[in-house]
Amino acid sequence: MNAVANPPHLRVEGLTKTFGPVIANSDVSFQVERGEILCLLGENGAGKSTLSSCLYGFYQADKGRIFYEGKEVEFHSPRDAIACGIGMVHQHFVLVTPMSVIENIVLGTHEHGWALGVEEAERRVRDLCGRYDIDLDLDAKIWQLSVGEQQWVEIVKALYLGAELLILDEPTAVLTPQESDKLFRIIRRMTGDGLSIIMISHKLNEVMQSDHVAVLRRGKIVDTVRTADVTKEDLTSMMVGRPVMLQAEREDMEPGETILEVAGLRVRNDKDQHAVKGMSFKVHAHEILGIAGVSGNGQNELFEALMGVRDTDSGQIWLHGEDVTHQNPRQMVEHGIGYIPDDRFRAGLVGSFSVAENTILGLQKNPRFSDGPLLNFRRILNFANEAIKRFGIVTPGPHARTDTLSGGNAQKIILAREFWSASCCILANQPTRGLDVGVIEYVHQMLLEKRRDGFAIVLASEELEDILALSDRIAVVFKGEIMGVFRSDEVDIQKLGLLMAGQRDAAAQSDGKPYVKVV
Ligand SMILES: Nc1ncnc2c1ncn2[C@@H]1O[C@H](COP(=O)(O)OP(=O)(O)OP(=O)(O)O)[C@@H](O)[C@H]1O
Ligand SMILES: [Mg+2]
Repeated sequence: MNAVANPPHLRVEGLTKTFGPVIANSDVSFQVERGEILCLLGENGAGKSTLSSCLYGFYQADKGRIFYEGKEVEFHSPRDAIACGIGMVHQHFVLVTPMSVIENIVLGTHEHGWALGVEEAERRVRDLCGRYDIDLDLDAKIWQLSVGEQQWVEIVKALYLGAELLILDEPTAVLTPQESDKLFRIIRRMTGDGLSIIMISHKLNEVMQSDHVAVLRRGKIVDTVRTADVTKEDLTSMMVGRPVMLQAEREDMEPGETILEVAGLRVRNDKDQHAVKGMSFKVHAHEILGIAGVSGNGQNELFEALMGVRDTDSGQIWLHGEDVTHQNPRQMVEHGIGYIPDDRFRAGLVGSFSVAENTILGLQKNPRFSDGPLLNFRRILNFANEAIKRFGIVTPGPHARTDTLSGGNAQKIILAREFWSASCCILANQPTRGLDVGVIEYVHQMLLEKRRDGFAIVLASEELEDILALSDRIAVVFKGEIMGVFRSDEVDIQKLGLLMAGQRDAAAQSDGKPYVKVV
């Protein structure tokens, strides 16, 4: 009877949402209690973002009922959901970049914003930031902020609009591990105030910090469990339907000849400042060189320079002993380099193209896909179908537009293409970002297989466990410089963490070994 007196904060009953023939959500039912964190967990394409968008009024469900504090509600647009007390931060968020933080927060919210007067609005925003210890420069322009800071703007905006139930779609995908910890601390403060959170994450360490987990599989809820009652392995089996190896196992292997060599590389960022300040390293055949660093310490510029996407100021790059400095991306592809960029829709895919077109993007001239000047569509389709099968890409077929794919499934197209086309070297910048654990396992196996085949691999990841498990050597980068290169069996997470924060001395003291060991 308690349930009647004290209804859940949100209850969903039999929600179904289709896109043409695709059933994204099928008869979904679950509930969120006040003051709890509920995690939505599921493979790429399981329907998490779609479900969230239905709860936020962004999509209208075909069937099903939504109850807010026991009262049935119907949302025709996000405006209705906001009025009811629901806020959402999307997987790919939208802010007006030339405007300031405060303008974005009060923008388009007459009843809360301009009617109050800017000063009153600003005071309220400051109060909110103060209460939750959110560090935001309200006068900064959006374009000046990091992606992580932009996400804070979105969160504060939702709170400012009166959200009591906040939906966060993969909020930590764009955060460093330190920023993610902070997000969780703040979220806990919010739930302490009686707010409720629905959160989507593929990172099991984070999922374990929630109160309940609702597991989705192919659009259906498999089960909703109390987090305290399950292990990461249980959750993995529930979502993937089979046990998954959460940690890669790398066999011992002698490195071969030098494939990629970089000396004194200096590269500028978009603001024309030096982001890479004289990096030098070698990568051999049968070797994975891990790049560990907090994002924004020159990794992206390094990868872009290696691929020829961004020009170098000084320094040299050799491939198999041949000087390839200043060559363009097409030439680098022809040399056999595969490139997985960190921002898939900016650098790796064309959203309006079909899945098939994207699986061969940049490879149009490859004899496998063309007969002289003409493309061979039959072979392209075969290749795309093979990629869809091998990577388990969730899509109606090779003709579907790429921007209708879920985040993780879009990433798999790049992986399929680059793993196939590369012949000697792979540059992988955050290759598993946004992927579910089953696919991560597969990508790790692919990287290790390429290593076995004699490839040289450069791998950047913010997941230090992955870097440690996969890499033969690890270069730690900080403010555009390499703090040291270590054999992966010589360092641990703690020492890497200190070096990534630029604390060489503390890192040296932590185990009494010299802090720079170049091997
Ligand atoms: N606008 C759309 N048009 C057509 N199909 C869509 C659209 N949006 C989503 N889908 C399809 O609905 C299914 C669920 O997608 P959704 O984005 O909800 O997955 P997800 O669980 O969020 O995955 P990820 O973890 O990769 O982000 C997928 O098959 C996707 O291709
Ligand atoms: Mg999603």
